[in-house]
Amino acid sequence: MIRSVVRGFGAALPKQVVTNLDLESKVDTSDEWIVQRTGIRQRYIAGEGETTASLGEAAGRAALENAGLTSADLDLIIVATSTPDNTFPATAVNIQNRLGMHHGAAFDVQAVCSGFIFGVTTADAYIRGGLAKRVLVIGAETFSRILDWTDRTTCVLFGDGAGAIILEAQEGTGANSDRGVLTTQLRSDGAHKEKLYVDGGPSTTGTVGHLRMEGREVFKHAVGMITDVIEAAFTATGTTADDLDWLVPHQANRRIIDGSAKKLGIPLEKVVVTVDLHGNTSAASIPLALNTAAADGRIKRGDLVLLEAMGGGFTWGSVLLRW
Ligand SMILES: CC(C)(COP(=O)(O)OP(=O)(O)OC[C@H]1O[C@@H](n2cnc3c(N)ncnc32)[C@H](O)[C@@H]1OP(=O)(O)O)[C@@H](O)C(=O)NCCC(=O)NCCS
Repeated sequence: MIRSVVRGFGAALPKQVVTNLDLESKVDTSDEWIVQRTGIRQRYIAGEGETTASLGEAAGRAALENAGLTSADLDLIIVATSTPDNTFPATAVNIQNRLGMHHGAAFDVQAVCSGFIFGVTTADAYIRGGLAKRVLVIGAETFSRILDWTDRTTCVLFGDGAGAIILEAQEGTGANSDRGVLTTQLRSDGAHKEKLYVDGGPSTTGTVGHLRMEGREVFKHAVGMITDVIEAAFTATGTTADDLDWLVPHQANRRIIDGSAKKLGIPLEKVVVTVDLHGNTSAASIPLALNTAAADGRIKRGDLVLLEAMGGGFTWGSVLLRW
C-alpha cells in the first residue's frame, strides 16, 4: 500500500523576540503569571515585511532544502492558516508563486490550531488516493495581527511563525512498522464557536476582527478532546502509549500538554515542548515543534511520533506516523 512518508522538514520564525518582561510594559501582566499559567516565556512577533506568506515561504524553502528537492518536484501545496495575507487568493497560491512553482495546485485549509493536523490528513488522502506524489504541508500564522493588544487575557498567549513538512508517496507493507502516516483522526463541533473565535470577517463586519477567547472554558474541554483523538489513533492501529517514541502536541499551554500526557500515561521525557520559546503559534506550532526536535536529533528515522491538536471551532485531531 502507498504511505505518505516525511521526506523533509523546515521552519521559520520572525526576527523579533518578545519576552514576557517586554509585555509587562504593554499590558497589566507579569512574567510570573504567564509562566505559571501557560509555561510561555517568549514568543516571536512578525515585523514590517514579515507576513504569513513570507514565513510560510521560508519554512517551505527550508523543507525543500532538507529533502534535497526543489518546487519542481512537488504536485501540491497545502497551507494551514487562519491569518492569511489576503482574504483571497489563498496563501498557499501566494507561496506557490513565491517558490517559482506554476504547475500542480495549492490551497489553504482553515482549522485554526488544528490546521496542521487537517492539512497532513488532507495531504495523506491525496497521496494514498494517487492524486499527488509529493505534497508540501505548511502551517503558517501571524496571530499577532488578530490580537487585541489591550486584552491581557489573550495577547500574552500567542506568537507568529511557520513550519513545514514534505510528504512523499512510498510503497509500504500495511504494517505499523512502515514509515509514514499510519492513521489520522479528525473531529469538529461548531457548538463551541463562542468559546474561541475572531469577532470579524468579510461577510459579517467587513473587517478582520480580533481573537476572543473564554480561556477557562477552552481549558475545560481541551484535555478530554485531546485524549479522545489520541485513544482513537491507538485503537485504529492497535498501538499503545508504550509504543510511542515522541508525542508532539499543539503548543498552547504547558498545563494542557502535561495534563494530556499524564492522562494517557505518556512520560514527559517523550513529549516535545516548545511553548516556552514560541508561545501558541496556532497551525504553525506542531511543525515548529517537529522541526525543533528533528533538527536537534531527538526525533530519528523510524521513530513512532504522535501529533495532536485542539483549537477554535472547536476542531481537534491526531496523526500517528513513523518518521
Ligand atoms: C488563558 C488561561 C491561561 C487563563 O488561566 P486561568 O487560570 O484560567 O485564569 P482565569 O482566566 O481564571 O483568570 C484568573 C485571573 O487572572 C487574571 N489574568 C488574566 N490574564 C492575565 C494576564 N495576562 N496577566 C495577569 N493576570 C491575568 C484574570 O483577570 C483573573 O483575575 P481575577 O481573578 O481578578 O478576575 C487558561 O484559561 C488557559 O490556558 N486556557 C486555555 C487557553 C488555550 O490554550 N487556548 C488556545 C487553544 S488552541
